[in-house]
Amino acid sequence: MRALLCLFLVALACAARAQDTEWRVPFISTPGEVVERMLALANTGRDDYVVDLGSGDGRIVITAARRFGARGLGIELDEALVRASRENARRAGVADRASFAQGDVLTADFSAATVVTLYLLPELIGRLQPRFLAYLKPGTRVVSHAFRMTGWRPDASQTLQVAGPHPGQGDESTLYLWIVPAAVRGVWAGGGMRVRIEQNYQEIDVEGATEATLRGADIAWRSPAGRFRGRVEGDRIIGDDARVLARER
Ligand SMILES: C[S@@+](CC[C@H](N)C(=O)[O-])C[C@H]1O[C@@H](n2cnc3c(N)ncnc32)[C@H](O)[C@@H]1O
Repeated sequence: MRALLCLFLVALACAARAQDTEWRVPFISTPGEVVERMLALANTGRDDYVVDLGSGDGRIVITAARRFGARGLGIELDEALVRASRENARRAGVADRASFAQGDVLTADFSAATVVTLYLLPELIGRLQPRFLAYLKPGTRVVSHAFRMTGWRPDASQTLQVAGPHPGQGDESTLYLWIVPAAVRGVWAGGGMRVRIEQNYQEIDVEGATEATLRGADIAWRSPAGRFRGRVEGDRIIGDDARVLARER
């Protein structure tokens, strides 16, 4: 499996280098059953706005609209693939909910997404990673086919068998899910509390607390003073018990 993945990476890297100076990833589509599992892993639903970064023939955005009732946008460098995606969406009867734009994912604005999907080279994912944290709303789900981010532990992963062999991956595909965490590093005070929080992506350490969790904007910890649960809203944490903590400057 590891050897196959290495071969795939080499093939992708060679193809990428052949394409002048742009960060290119060749068009290799995600198998249909894997697309469905990616969207299911992200718990995609009618209220979601799914953005596929490097959308190829449009299949992820079209499936999100057709099978999950979501709206979506595919961003793709290749103009011919954008045209083909629009035609595929029209044929699938979801052109009103599945849009496609020609553009570079490194400069495009995808901050409105609630679900982001990826099947891109690790180098490109690495360049996108800081943008996910800077621009995506806390709670946005990011799902990647085959390749993971660096230093950011996935919140979930799944390996599945695929019916037909897939280039470089044999008959297996691994999917990774990350939930964008709110930025909580710092000192917070209010409601009779003052706590310092350290943060490494979704992993947090709350001074004096024995357990602490952060999932999107939902934060909780347990300390000798009791249990606290709340929601991060910018520079405030609103407790379930109506206590409000503000970030100290
Ligand atoms: C491996 S394919 C994945 C296609 C589709 N997302 C899927 O899973 O079936 C990657 C796609 O990303 C596009 N791509 C590569 N670099 C890009 C960039 N910087 N901006 C936009 N699209 C890009 C390629 O043209 C290609 O169609």
